[in-house]
Amino acid sequence: MVNHAIAASLMAADLTHLGDEIAAMTHAGIDAFHWDITDGHFVPNLNFGPDHIKQTRSLTPVYFDVHLMVSKPEHWIDIMAGAGADAISFHAELSSDRTTLIKNIHDRDCDAGIAFNPETPLSVIDLKLWQNIDRIIIMTVKPGFGGQGFMDQSEKIRQAATLKEKYPHLQIVVDGGINATTAIKARQAGATTLVSGSFLFGQKNNYEAAIGQLRGDAS
Ligand code: DX5
Ligand code: ZN
Repeated sequence: MVNHAIAASLMAADLTHLGDEIAAMTHAGIDAFHWDITDGHFVPNLNFGPDHIKQTRSLTPVYFDVHLMVSKPEHWIDIMAGAGADAISFHAELSSDRTTLIKNIHDRDCDAGIAFNPETPLSVIDLKLWQNIDRIIIMTVKPGFGGQGFMDQSEKIRQAATLKEKYPHLQIVVDGGINATTAIKARQAGATTLVSGSFLFGQKNNYEAAIGQLRGDAS
């Protein structure tokens, strides 16, 4: 059975003990930390900034996946890479020059990703760009807030899985409303990485078991 990667969305961590949460999740075997970066403009919320990433970077060797939900991703690539990002994703809904953004992310030795809101089809991305993209983030909630209900995007995940047949390095990341039940749906449709915030951080003292449930270890 395929071993799925699990990313912990830090938006749902106990922010009064962010470092301890990162250490506990690392100890529990998490594959990535997912940092939601918002600007109060692309989405109506404010969360983390580069200093959170920078100050916690030395606490864990685990992959830092930065999800930019901002209107001007071009402004943040150097800053997030400098702070310690391993992957930087921007949104498909923006009119930014995608080729340049991807190049700038790669020039900073980070993996490049494109995130899709639930209503945005994969077809907004030019087919020839996919060969340069490392991650697709398929949002299964409206972007900006944790703790929302899962919106089924199985068809889009299946389309992404078809792209992965051509570009095997592509990671299919599903983000939003992931719990032990919705994880099954996402995995069956072809997700390779599941991002979870409220479900995962809701299982205090039991992170290892919660990660196992999302991976489908028992199924
Ligand atoms: C939503 C974020 C998600 C969110 C996931 O805008 O991109 O990463 O934090 O949290 P849950 O798992 O609570 O939906
Ligand atoms: Zn996210």
